Amino acid sequence: MSYNLLKGKRGIIFGALDENSIAWKTAEKVFEQGGKFVLTNAPIAMRMGKIKELAEKTGSEIIPADATSVEDLENLVAKSMEILGGKLDFVLHSIGMSVNVRKGNHYTDMNYDFTTKGWDVSAVSFHKTMQTLYKKDAMNEWGSIVALTYIAAQRVFPDYNDMADNKAYLESIARSFGYFFGKDKKVRVNTISQSPTPTTAGQGVKGFDAFISYAEKMSPLGNATADECADYTLTLFSDLTKKVTLQNLFHDGGFSNVGVSQEVMEAFIEK
Ligand SMILES: NC(=O)c1ccc[n+]([C@@H]2O[C@H](COP(=O)([O-])OP(=O)(O)OC[C@H]3O[C@@H](n4cnc5c(N)ncnc54)[C@H](O)[C@@H]3O)[C@@H](O)[C@H]2O)c1
Repeated sequence: MSYNLLKGKRGIIFGALDENSIAWKTAEKVFEQGGKFVLTNAPIAMRMGKIKELAEKTGSEIIPADATSVEDLENLVAKSMEILGGKLDFVLHSIGMSVNVRKGNHYTDMNYDFTTKGWDVSAVSFHKTMQTLYKKDAMNEWGSIVALTYIAAQRVFPDYNDMADNKAYLESIARSFGYFFGKDKKVRVNTISQSPTPTTAGQGVKGFDAFISYAEKMSPLGNATADECADYTLTLFSDLTKKVTLQNLFHDGGFSNVGVSQEVMEAFIEK
């Protein structure tokens, strides 16, 4: 249903790969709420993914950018303002990748070149994006920047591997840069800590199916879907949340505050 929550707002959406991507669902919903945006992804994802389909559906243009390349980001931000006709009101960073996870390297046996690549793509790219926006003075006052994260930044989930460290780094960047973006430009910066979600990135994590069922049983409201995550993101892009900043916001059906649930207890009760 459209409330025209984002009417007249302009932005950039990173990370839509296919229809399961959280960024894909967000783009569809931002469009529904009257927002205009440029879609972007890594050049390699352009070839693999279906982003053109999404662009046609939402009347958006695509600008390829490797989010680890400052040059690509500068081009992306400058062109987006040109295409959309002014400064930006919202940016979604929906990017994550660990080469150690992809290659099946255990946390105790990491390849550090892969580790470096992983934090560059998953965390420092967020700093690079914000620094580019900040230097180009590309955000309107009361604009909103959101990145996606996972609770493994705070608690141990052994198979999440070095992505846990990458997410802790990402969340810290959100706070540190968010301070300056707030003070100097009145722009808010937050992370959404989302339930495990069946997407390409999610399913790359070892034992993902068990992971998602466990979280479902632990969460009083059940796991949050990609669609629901998109809905939550809309509120953060809207003018209804103008003073929310520097926060890591759990969107997880309550998982983060549960010690144990009855369903999980029952699995351990001797019959
Ligand atoms: N799926 C989950 O269980 C889950 C849970 C919590 C948080 N998240 C986070 O949500 C975000 C979106 O992931 P998703 O689950 O929608 O999966 P996804 O695989 O659909 O999206 C990940 C995106 O990152 C992009 N990407 C990778 N390297 C890039 C680069 N160098 N430059 C630009 N883009 C690049 C990919 O092309 C892809 O579009 C990620 O930050 C992920 O860690 C996912």
